[in-house]
Amino acid sequence: MTTPTTPATPGPTSAPDEEGGPLPLAPTIDRFMELAVAPSWSRLGPALRRHLFRWDDEPAPRLDGKVVVLTGFTSGLGLAAAKQLAGTGATLHLVGRNPEKVAAWAEVLQADAQRAGGSVVTSIADLSDLDAVRALAEEIAAAHPKVDVLVHNAGALSRSRTTSPQGIETTVAAHVLGPFLLTTLLLPRLEAAGKGARVLTMSSGGMYAERLSVDDLEMGPDGYNGTIAYARAKRAQVELGHEWRRHGPEGVAFHCLHPGWADTPGVVEGLPGFHRLTGPILRTPEEGADTLVWMVGVDVHRLGASGGFWLDRRRRTEHKVPWTHPPAGERERLWAWCRQRTGLA
Ligand SMILES: NC(=O)c1ccc[n+]([C@@H]2O[C@H](COP(=O)([O-])OP(=O)(O)OC[C@H]3O[C@@H](n4cnc5c(N)ncnc54)[C@H](OP(=O)(O)O)[C@@H]3O)[C@@H](O)[C@H]2O)c1
Repeated sequence: MTTPTTPATPGPTSAPDEEGGPLPLAPTIDRFMELAVAPSWSRLGPALRRHLFRWDDEPAPRLDGKVVVLTGFTSGLGLAAAKQLAGTGATLHLVGRNPEKVAAWAEVLQADAQRAGGSVVTSIADLSDLDAVRALAEEIAAAHPKVDVLVHNAGALSRSRTTSPQGIETTVAAHVLGPFLLTTLLLPRLEAAGKGARVLTMSSGGMYAERLSVDDLEMGPDGYNGTIAYARAKRAQVELGHEWRRHGPEGVAFHCLHPGWADTPGVVEGLPGFHRLTGPILRTPEEGADTLVWMVGVDVHRLGASGGFWLDRRRRTEHKVPWTHPPAGERERLWAWCRQRTGLA
């Protein structure tokens, strides 16, 4: 049995409500682009929506005094986001897994952040290693009395199956369990930030292909398929947003988003055929990261109720076909599974 718990029509949208609002027909054009997928997820998406919804009328965010934690900042979308956030006055706590890359980019970003009145702190952690995530949470909590924004951006599509130090399949460990544990351990710091605190997770449009099935989430070695493992993990991230809405503290917002198709080292490595085929229409990393940066800085009331899935500054449906709605009780099972696998239960 399926429970269509999410409305087919997205909830609150992000149409700018100042400086004149969207152009006439903007929502209609936007809906048709999204229905056809490629015009929406390619570089055409942000190019058109920027004008349709007058993105340039929105002031650049200032985040003075805010603490923003961002994972996966050493490449692609995370790096593009970190560069933009370095100009906002925020304290950026940037998390990477490769010490050399972390040190090299931190130096560049620190200089930018200081010029804008902010600062950069770094930590090293592989998000698939739950012991490393526990140590990371302690480090972040020791460094900041509050965390305003926690961004789970780190991720990769790996074609071969590997396991984490705890013996968990790496894709689900890095995308689902590591972020779940980090969020849980940082909840007191997020609550300390007060109204406006938020947790943002970079999911993927690939999740539209999968339905949540907790029993199939951690793929075994037999018939392992990295693309499917990735899409299932990304689906789980989105479904967990609803559980966070139920279980999380009231003052903290939880949302997922996807970047469309962006030209990043992650796509070159994880989907080389797709990259060759779609190269000219892919978004730049900056275009792919635009909505993430916008969601970090925007007034929280514009995001609406927790559990949203966003693309190009608008809330989107979580299901493009009816059969991906989760079976009754499956989200609750996912929540219990995450708690059990991370040792929190
Ligand atoms: N690009 C797209 O079109 C697209 C589409 C849908 C979703 N996404 C999602 O967007 C996010 C960013 O991807 P991207 O395209 O920017 O890829 P990318 O260029 O490969 O960047 C991924 C970042 O995540 C880090 N990372 C990966 N696995 C990690 C782990 N286990 N622990 C800690 N850090 C880890 C990488 O670190 P290293 O630098 O050390 O490798 C890198 O900083 C991912 O979650 C991805 O699934 C991207």
